[in-house]
Amino acid sequence: MVDYKYKIFTDSLEKNIREGVLKPGYKLPSVRVLKEQYQTSISTIQKGYEYLMLIGLVESVPKSGYFVAHQQQEPIEAPLKAYPVVRDAVFKQHLGLMSAQEEERNVSAFNVATPGDVFMPQQLILRTMQQVIREEGASLLRYYPASGSPVLKGRIITRATRHQTYIHEEALLLTDGALQALYIALAAVCEVGDVIAVESPCVFSVLEVIRMLRLKVVEVPIDLRTGFDIDFFKQACDKNNIKALVVTPNFNNPTGLSLSNEQKIALIALVHRYNVALIENDMYSDLYFQGERPSLIKRYDDSGLVLSYGSYAKTLAPGIRLGWLSAGKFMARAEQIKFALGSSVSPIYQETVSRILAGTAYDRHLRSFRLQLAKNAHFAMHLIADNFPTETTFVRPQGGYHLWVRMPDTTDMSAFYALCDQIGVKFTPGSIFSFSGAYDRFFRMIFADRFSKEKIEAIRLLGRAIR
Ligand SMILES: Cc1ncc(COP(=O)(O)O)c(C=O)c1O
Repeated sequence: MVDYKYKIFTDSLEKNIREGVLKPGYKLPSVRVLKEQYQTSISTIQKGYEYLMLIGLVESVPKSGYFVAHQQQEPIEAPLKAYPVVRDAVFKQHLGLMSAQEEERNVSAFNVATPGDVFMPQQLILRTMQQVIREEGASLLRYYPASGSPVLKGRIITRATRHQTYIHEEALLLTDGALQALYIALAAVCEVGDVIAVESPCVFSVLEVIRMLRLKVVEVPIDLRTGFDIDFFKQACDKNNIKALVVTPNFNNPTGLSLSNEQKIALIALVHRYNVALIENDMYSDLYFQGERPSLIKRYDDSGLVLSYGSYAKTLAPGIRLGWLSAGKFMARAEQIKFALGSSVSPIYQETVSRILAGTAYDRHLRSFRLQLAKNAHFAMHLIADNFPTETTFVRPQGGYHLWVRMPDTTDMSAFYALCDQIGVKFTPGSIFSFSGAYDRFFRMIFADRFSKEKIEAIRLLGRAIR
């Protein structure tokens, strides 16, 4: 564990705030006073305050200083039924698939789940691509090995071992992005009409893959206080022949919630007991706000029943169409399916990502992106808390870039979205994060872009209009 210098003063502040000795709104000592008191540098004190802000205990008010944060009440309702229901994978309303290109210029878009232009390492990616073309030349025009470049696979494996996840090269397949990896994983494990379990809420693109494969689903609720409902999943396994579970262990899209290590271990025991393939989504684990990269569930598996997948769409750029699937004991079938979907991933993407992962550039980029995201999360929460009706609640994200907001029971949601349209604010409506149409009081707000003056003003206007 890294020993952070700022802990000389943050440990006691953290304890006093958590135990209620220091109340919300209490003004904390200035940076200068703490610097003198602890005989340390200004930057150590600033980093300490930054840490306390990231974990939501402290807030800063420009020109006034640091204060104990007003804690946000969290949504407590679990909107899904309290027993497992098998349903067809059909959306209650037509799914208007969204992409960044469709956005109009004067719209404040909080619905596109990709890094904003200023947070994408554009120079690094473009420079590396040019270098790849210069140095690799015509060899880029051939097929690469069907399961992917061994060098790149080696780099992905080495990174995974840094967080105690051991991926076997023979079971690792490179794919054209993460959704293709998910498609292959599900198709390798299931037949049309099989029943699978999926976390709920769950991002609509994942639900769309499930729908395309004509599977049936049991939606397992993510409780907004306690996380993925493992008992509910067990009940679902008792009642049905569940073939697979699709879950995001870290920073679920849209809630931002993660499973604890204890929950991951409990889940592994269940999938072993019921012989269920567990397909885990690793899209956001690199985007943690504090501490270390959280573990994958695969870390605890030695049976080959766990399939993990991810891509670089959320950390580098969505145009880099390169994902990976660690397919466990389903590799042979996964390779066949990948072959049918178009053999190897474009060599340009493979070589570009391979070079970016080889040096320190990716980690340097992640460090600054994470810090920016943590600040943006804080800003987004404030923007909603300060401008929306007081009964509006949200889940405090610990990583990733989603804020899952619940509007008060009194808000007319159709009127709310009509106002969003009028003012030019785009959120993603909660109802498309489930086949059951639940979550219609929720919306997802993405905070992976710069908060321009126009965007801030648009939220303020919206807040005033709905109050
Ligand atoms: C959970 C999850 N999986 C997959 C994707 C898409 O990833 P890719 O663009 O690599 O296919 C997204 C984002 O759209 C996502 O949130």
